[in-house]
Amino acid sequence: MPTLPLPYDPAALATAHGTPLWIYDAAVIEQRISEVASFDTVRYAQKANSSLAVLALMRQHGVKVDAVTAGELHRAQQVGYTLGSDDVVFTADVLDDDALEWIARHRIPVNVGSPDMIAQLAAAGIDVPITLRINPGFGHGHSQKVNTGGESSKHGIWHDQIPACLASAKTHGLTVRGLHMHIGSGADFKHLSEVAGAMVTAAQTFAQHADTLRVVSAGGGLPIPYHADQPQRIDLDRYFKVWDDARQTIAGITGHDVELEVEPGRYLVAESGSLLTRVRSVKQSGSKHYVIIDAGFNDLVRPSFYGAHHHITVHGPDGQDLGAGSTCDTQDAIVAGPLCESCDVFTQEEDGTVVTRALPRATAGDLLVLHDAGAYGMAMSSNYNSRRIAAEVMLKDGQAHLIRERQSFESLTQFERVPAALHADTVKA
Ligand code: LLP
Repeated sequence: MPTLPLPYDPAALATAHGTPLWIYDAAVIEQRISEVASFDTVRYAQKANSSLAVLALMRQHGVKVDAVTAGELHRAQQVGYTLGSDDVVFTADVLDDDALEWIARHRIPVNVGSPDMIAQLAAAGIDVPITLRINPGFGHGHSQKVNTGGESSKHGIWHDQIPACLASAKTHGLTVRGLHMHIGSGADFKHLSEVAGAMVTAAQTFAQHADTLRVVSAGGGLPIPYHADQPQRIDLDRYFKVWDDARQTIAGITGHDVELEVEPGRYLVAESGSLLTRVRSVKQSGSKHYVIIDAGFNDLVRPSFYGAHHHITVHGPDGQDLGAGSTCDTQDAIVAGPLCESCDVFTQEEDGTVVTRALPRATAGDLLVLHDAGAYGMAMSSNYNSRRIAAEVMLKDGQAHLIRERQSFESLTQFERVPAALHADTVKA
């Protein structure tokens, strides 16, 4: 399978920083940002990768940001985004105490995902511009676990409740300035045009009740080609046109200009990132051949959680791509991690079936790279099995910058307390 050469020397980075190691190429992120520039506003869904250096890069290129928790607001603030301006919008289906406190303190615009949130903002004395996240009644997603619309999705305000929400906002003195839909149509343009049509219908309803509609957001969900043998990219001109046409129709309905926003996460960062790992063991179990690496689903959960596919390359300890030559010695292998779970496997299907992948023959000590891992990789990692969160490096202008140190053992336990009653010397006879 043809593979582009890595933009880094895996052996040098593994030696310098250890493995597993996240590596992001800033040039790829910059390229993706430029590709969505037709939209009036590009708002990065930082849930995909909220590392500070990634956020700083977004800000440097004029990309605004979305936050779904107080923690994400904190991150945006850390890199210089102005809370309380349109730079940062809070999008969620619920408001927790932390969020309410941050929204109140900084007057952050809120994209409301359930009707209760309107009254709750008002009850907390918060007077901020709001937008309504609408569930149009149908949905999509790359897996059942990321279905974003329809009755079985918990997201958004059901489409027929727009008048009630506008009335509630009016009662509480809040201005609704926009409509938002995040449906995740992928590259399915038939579905996408239905979503855009639903947005026009929602705007019609809105305009019958209020004249404050100023912005429509197409949400995120732009796909990337995870499979190396299906390299076709989404047609972004066509994607933009579908939404721009809807925006113009909506402007005709409202009688004034309406801004068009897009909210991608994955599209901006997925392909910039890879997870560099070390092969620790190769073994045969009956007819199956296993390649066991030093990263697990605590690092990259997407294969275990969704059966997501990540392209894999194998490199010798010197960094040489073992699949690059014309006479590559391949082997059907299951790539697994170190965790105490049988689902800790990077080659599996959505239903959890473990499958093999034809890979260059690997031996312990080789390096193995999981590609296209810049989105929902580090961001979904955990300390399961008390494994430390891996280090991150960003390649920028020919240099590899360490942007996150490998977590220390001390920090694994720093917030834990053992009550005196549990100390060994206080055990009663
Ligand atoms: N806007 C909203 C309101 C969202 O909920 C999301 C993602 C996005 C934008 C960005 O979607 P994107 O462009 O990245 O597809 N963990 C899953 C993806 C979950 C997406 C959750 N919401 C994965 O690893 O594929």
